[in-house]
Amino acid sequence: MKRIVILISGRGSNMEALVEACAREAWSARVAAVISNRADAAGLAYAAARGIATAVVEHRAYADREGFDAALAQAIDAHGADLVVLAGFMRILTPGFVQRYAGRLLNIHPSLLPAFPGLHTHRRAIEAGCKLAGATVHYVTAALDHGPIVAQAVVPVLSGDTEHTLAARVLASEHRLYPMAVRWAVDDALLTADGVVRQRDGAPQLLL
Ligand code: GRF
Repeated sequence: MKRIVILISGRGSNMEALVEACAREAWSARVAAVISNRADAAGLAYAAARGIATAVVEHRAYADREGFDAALAQAIDAHGADLVVLAGFMRILTPGFVQRYAGRLLNIHPSLLPAFPGLHTHRRAIEAGCKLAGATVHYVTAALDHGPIVAQAVVPVLSGDTEHTLAARVLASEHRLYPMAVRWAVDDALLTADGVVRQRDGAPQLLL
């Protein structure tokens, strides 16, 4: 039974989707803890109500990123994490932290990477006139919003979309995409070669 630790900073809707899929599909894993860098992250209440251990590691309590990441790693390791899943975790991680969890650290980003890393992805996609948008699950490397792509979901950009309507459409796709990808990681069904991730059984790594 693998142990998943999920890191959040806010709402936690992706975390909820993961917790629910894990239970519904009887993954050979359990969500061992949900950890936030903010005490006011709304998702913490959901996790606690589901009987999942929660912890807060306040980034503001540390003088530098190294100090924060060391405390965060300690909190993660206290739960014996096999997989560390970032779900709306709004901190840049140090290379040392990323290295510690190499190959078992996943993130979801609300764009079709490598397009639009960073913030305000939906606004930027609309401003660029994109007709497609989406979300990407990737292994985390030291470069922000880069790293081998595990799976992507694609949605249309509709005329009249605002960043809010587009964000809502992308978020709905994230809630299908992230459980699919994390389950593959749980099942050791992901193979990475030359920076490219393949699903062992040839399952489509694209949600349309
Ligand atoms: C999602 O859009 C995710 O892709 C991004 O931050 C947002 C988090 O939303 N990294 P939630 O906290 O999971 O509801």
